[in-house]
Amino acid sequence: MPPALDPPALDPPALNPPALDFADVVAARKLLAEHLPATPMWSYPALNELAGATVHVKHENVQPIGAFKVRGGLTLLATMSPEQRSRGLATYSTGNHAQSLAYACSVFGARCAVVMPAAANEQKVRAVRALGATVVLHGADMAGAQAHAEELAATEGMQLVSPGDTPALMAGVGTAYLEIFATQPDLDAVIVPVGSGTGAAAAGLVAATVAPHCRVIAVQSSAAPAAHDSWRTGGCVQRPNRTVIEGLATGRGFELPQQLMREHVADFRLVSDAQIAHAQRVMATHAHTLAEGAGATALAAVLADPGGFAGQRVAVVCTGGNASDGEIAGLAGG
Ligand SMILES: Cc1ncc(COP(=O)(O)O)c(C=O)c1O
Repeated sequence: MPPALDPPALDPPALNPPALDFADVVAARKLLAEHLPATPMWSYPALNELAGATVHVKHENVQPIGAFKVRGGLTLLATMSPEQRSRGLATYSTGNHAQSLAYACSVFGARCAVVMPAAANEQKVRAVRALGATVVLHGADMAGAQAHAEELAATEGMQLVSPGDTPALMAGVGTAYLEIFATQPDLDAVIVPVGSGTGAAAAGLVAATVAPHCRVIAVQSSAAPAAHDSWRTGGCVQRPNRTVIEGLATGRGFELPQQLMREHVADFRLVSDAQIAHAQRVMATHAHTLAEGAGATALAAVLADPGGFAGQRVAVVCTGGNASDGEIAGLAGG
């Protein structure tokens, strides 16, 4: 057989074409309309008084899996062909991305396998299994789980889904920010917790189009600062991952969200695990909300900088409510 001829020269490809743009988020909203209602966003006077700002809490903790990630999983499955879905999907996660993919696979009738770190939150493991996915517990952290998921996907012929570098996941989670700006177009800041950065990247992308005056502020645990340090250094770096906050427990920057965060995120802060635990208690006492640590991290950034947000209108995304037994017990502490 003769070698294939080179295709005729076309216009040169654009340099660094954006892997995701605003239109993808709008398209995701249409896809999600039949699966998920908009989540509520409330402001609580007692919380406002404590924070010295008008704080709008976006309640992603009331999603069917208890976390914002479900928007991404459903968008991914909805944009795959039946043939792609029939191969099944494999991924790695500390829990909420796992639940998201398992939920979406159950809705679309696809096989799902998830590798979670060996010490994963038991409730999250149970929830993922109850959604019909196969759970493999492997590795001390996300890096160990990732390596095993890659092997599993290769041997089972399943599609490997990166929790951070998959555009459809980011398009889906971006729909939360369309909802936020539709109800509160005049926010001064939106604060988003970061693990891999999909949520903050999508928030920045949406704000750039519909609320360019609003600062998108990313926040991560100082005990796992890989995304923060990646953003600050302009590369994708690895850092020790010592946080107890699931969801923020990543040890490396992810390329695609970093690219978008560099373009659209105004500031990136760090808070300690202790500050996050305090904000979790404030969520319970001042906002009637059981948040997991990651779900209270945006509020932690506000409480850590009372002067910086004084008098402003800010949205904090309560990204999840899947608190572990230990976290629930800890709510009673100082
Ligand atoms: C509750 C919660 N909040 C925040 C995050 C961080 O999201 P991302 O990885 O998109 O930065 C996660 C990630 O799993 C999460 O589960």
